[in-house]
Amino acid sequence: MLHLNILSVCALIEPLNFSTSCFKGAGCNAAEFEALVPASVTTLSGSCVTVPCSFTVPDQFKGNLHPGCIPIWKKKKTTISTTATFRGNLTAYDCTTTFNNVLEDNVQYNFRIACGNPLKYTFKENPVTIQIKGLPDAPRLTTPKEPVVEGTPVELGCSAPSYCDTHPPTVTWTPALGLSTQLQQDDTVTSTLTFNASHLHHGNNVSCTAAYYIPSGNKTVTSTRYQLSILFAPRNTSAVGSPCLPARVGGCLNLSCTSHANPAVSEVTWYRIHGEHILKIGTGSSLSIQLWNANYVFFCEARNEIGKEKSDVYKINLQANEYLSYSPALGSGGGTPFVTSGEGSITGVKVWEQPGNHITGFQLRYGTRWDRLIGRAVHAPLRLDLFEGETITQVSGKYHTSNYIYQLIFGTSRGRSLIAGQPVENSFNLYPEHAEAELRLLSGRFDSAGITSLGAHWGLAPDGANPQWAQYFLTK
Ligand SMILES: *[C@@H]1O[C@H](CO)[C@@H](O)[C@H](O)[C@H]1NC(C)=O
Ligand SMILES: *[C@@H]1O[C@H](CO)[C@@H](O)[C@H](O)[C@H]1NC(C)=O
Ligand SMILES: *[C@@H]1O[C@H](CO)[C@@H](O)[C@H](O)[C@H]1NC(C)=O
Ligand SMILES: *[C@@H]1O[C@H](CO)[C@@H](O)[C@H](O)[C@H]1NC(C)=O
Ligand SMILES: *[C@@H]1O[C@H](CO)[C@@H](O)[C@H](O)[C@H]1NC(C)=O
Ligand SMILES: *[C@@H]1O[C@H](CO)[C@@H](O)[C@H](O)[C@H]1NC(C)=O
Repeated sequence: MLHLNILSVCALIEPLNFSTSCFKGAGCNAAEFEALVPASVTTLSGSCVTVPCSFTVPDQFKGNLHPGCIPIWKKKKTTISTTATFRGNLTAYDCTTTFNNVLEDNVQYNFRIACGNPLKYTFKENPVTIQIKGLPDAPRLTTPKEPVVEGTPVELGCSAPSYCDTHPPTVTWTPALGLSTQLQQDDTVTSTLTFNASHLHHGNNVSCTAAYYIPSGNKTVTSTRYQLSILFAPRNTSAVGSPCLPARVGGCLNLSCTSHANPAVSEVTWYRIHGEHILKIGTGSSLSIQLWNANYVFFCEARNEIGKEKSDVYKINLQANEYLSYSPALGSGGGTPFVTSGEGSITGVKVWEQPGNHITGFQLRYGTRWDRLIGRAVHAPLRLDLFEGETITQVSGKYHTSNYIYQLIFGTSRGRSLIAGQPVENSFNLYPEHAEAELRLLSGRFDSAGITSLGAHWGLAPDGANPQWAQYFLTK
């Protein structure tokens, strides 16, 4: 039967010279018997494959095409594949067919049309070879060309071959970092994963997996892994200190700043908080400083090319009690009691004197603020501004047992002094018991004319930084 069918079409001409002679010859049909199919298609064992197919017939057979024509796929000399689903339309010259449950490798099929009339033809010259593979090709990842900066959207692509268009693979992502959308185009399924880059994603190994439905046993195959590199500003920045033991004023403190960043931290800056001011004290991931006060508050700031982050504060508080001492008040002691007060170290002193006579008043500056005036201001004061780290370590002078303080001398840790008043009557000399301590406050009494008595309290300042230095930093 097969033989006859072929003969019925080809009997009139020599098969080998058919094309040439016909195209040359006058009155010959322009169209020939020809099937347009791929030379080969590939699918997975047990899966399906769709063979796109169209054909032409010589003009004189066109009238023989009708919806009742039967499409057949012939395998060698045996009969047709029974597991094919015809999806074309023969009257539109479309012979597209899906082969199901393909199990044999490297088999040639020829399309044949049988219309129950003179049009019976096997397109022997245009076979399609169906090949099978045991495992699908691995899906391919497309990754960002450049490292991604935290906070920007990232798009990863995964394309997997689709062997059987009625059962395209399902693509999944591991880990599922965000939303994915799947798109089928021709023989390829592409999944796009989008998410906003976060430092939490940094270093994650991302892969995609294509799962193929096969009735005899599903198959999955996974892409290569891609390690995400996300650029992010420093995170988890932390400042810690370890004092050289025994911890004491004058001893050392090693500060260390740690942070996670990509790229790595390139710059660390250290700050000390002093009242309402922030002082830059050094750079580098570790810093060794000397403790000149009992209380210090630090933080560090780590920076890379993406951004910066400040750590929480690190506080150190040395036990200051041993530094406290009191020099009892001297003088007649009439009038109103006073105590000076302020935050931080004493940074300046003003003293008023009755020209050629006793001390009428004084004022201390703590940090950046002048405390209230004690006593009375007459004429212009004498004034001493301390340097950074300079402290008042001595208060001396002269007093009268029945009225006023006549002379007041403030001596500093740097050997400077402010001298006001007259060197008359009894001497006094107040100083701390502990060598590291400084003047913290003055107490005593005063009346409408001047200071009648004076005592000194010594200790360690919570923070002795000079505010002028802080101002300089803040305006820089
Ligand atoms: C097949 O193709 C013919 C010619 O193009 C058309 O008229 C007919 O509607 C098609 N049949 C189907 C089922 O699509
Ligand atoms: C990424 O962030 C933007 C803005 O914050 C948001 O609108 C968007 O939905 C986020 N995308 C994803 C995948 O989370
Ligand atoms: C990703 O893979 C690399 C290399 O195998 C490994 O060193 C790293 O720890 C992995 N990352 C994660 C988050 O598992
Ligand atoms: C094969 O995959 C399909 C969906 O693609 C699923 O419904 C079915 O349960 C799977 N079969 C096996 C044996 O895993
Ligand atoms: C910061 O610390 C948190 C909590 O320990 C952790 O979950 C996060 O991954 C850390 N971030 C970085 C960038 O190390
Ligand atoms: C502090 O740092 C110095 C110099 O790096 C080192 O010699 C010393 O041992 C460190 N001390 C402490 C307590 O870490």
